[in-house]
Amino acid sequence: MTASQLAAAGEPDAEKAFFVADLSHVLHQHKRWKAYLPEIEPFYAIKCNPDPYVLRLLAGLGTGFDCASMGEISRVTQLGVDPSRIIFANPCKAASFIRNSAKAGVDMMTFDNTDELFKIARVHPAAKLVVRILTDDSKSLCRLGLKFGAPLVTVPALLEKARELKLDVIGVSFHVGSGCYDSSAFADAVKRARATFDMGKEAGYEFTLLDVGGGFEDDTFEATASILKDAISEHFPDRQHIRIIAEPGRYFVSKAFSLAANVIARRAPPAVEEGRDVEVDPEQPSVMYYINDGVYGAFNCIMFDHQAPQPFVLSLNGSFHVPASVPLRASSVWGPTCDSIDCVCAVTPLPTTLQVGDWLGFADMGAYTICAASQFNGFEVSKVIYTAGVGPGAAEVREVLRAFEGEIVERDLL
Ligand SMILES: Cc1ncc(COP(=O)(O)O)c(C=O)c1O
Repeated sequence: MTASQLAAAGEPDAEKAFFVADLSHVLHQHKRWKAYLPEIEPFYAIKCNPDPYVLRLLAGLGTGFDCASMGEISRVTQLGVDPSRIIFANPCKAASFIRNSAKAGVDMMTFDNTDELFKIARVHPAAKLVVRILTDDSKSLCRLGLKFGAPLVTVPALLEKARELKLDVIGVSFHVGSGCYDSSAFADAVKRARATFDMGKEAGYEFTLLDVGGGFEDDTFEATASILKDAISEHFPDRQHIRIIAEPGRYFVSKAFSLAANVIARRAPPAVEEGRDVEVDPEQPSVMYYINDGVYGAFNCIMFDHQAPQPFVLSLNGSFHVPASVPLRASSVWGPTCDSIDCVCAVTPLPTTLQVGDWLGFADMGAYTICAASQFNGFEVSKVIYTAGVGPGAAEVREVLRAFEGEIVERDLL
């Protein structure tokens, strides 16, 4: 509403799209994790959303971090996080990154091929290695097995090579794929991890780490947790000496961020403009709305993360009191760039009275959005406005941030 008022008063750029991050939701997810998976330490996959406040909050709450590059490692260590709380979970790393991670004190890292072992033996022989195995990722939105993961048949030779190179392999990791919609994938993966622990023993190693990766979904979290716990109990009944970690990304941030975008332009066929009745075909959008963020920005998640964001109406014809039911019309929503690929929603029902200057909202925009947004065509990446929430978590969020950072930038946090 403030943005709308400023825009009406002629304030330049007041109608820019913006994210709202509810940090109390990140706290809530952390508590939920502790309640349902108390035995598994989360190492937040920062690639998902390296937002500085999310990182500070999670660091303050004591999570670990999954980093995939030196840039990510630096972001986390700059916050004062001890390197022992980081796993370099990229099985194919540049030698210079491995060398620099040794300098930064980050020892725990994944591998899935022999060349990686040669590199590590050369530049970081004291590394604590974790073999990333291939699992069934066919029930996931983003399959990672095409690129990473050692098939089980290749593991004995890999471990033999590691042994020959006098490397310390401490455990096993897997990733069932990001956006996993079948929790049973975790049970199968744990079974494969068990087989890998046994291969480790054959090769002369006593593994002490099981990393169950990412892929946790907000909607199915409790079901996944239950399947995962059962599988761990079945396949690792004696696990006093085994540390279990995970690399959740999406789970922590997806629902914590929403996006507000302004309708900057509209194209309607003459019949609509003249107020004549147009045939209502729900498959055929008649009015095109253009908003000020698109697939080159926050909505890159449509292409990279296979998402299908749907708008909700924040303001209608200038008013923020949007009636519960209004006449709708099949419409399409487009991003601001000059590219026709920049389509946010090919067809979606929107109020017939939606105008230029109105605002649309998009929920669940926290995962794999800001991190991959570009400035194509000179459009800036949408900024984030933070809130500590309104519930009991608000005070705790502020407290954690204050204790961790020393000083909290009140200006940034509503
Ligand atoms: C190695 C690794 N760990 C964790 C994640 C996070 O996955 P998610 O966001 O689905 O939890 C990813 C995502 O690509 C990944 O590649």
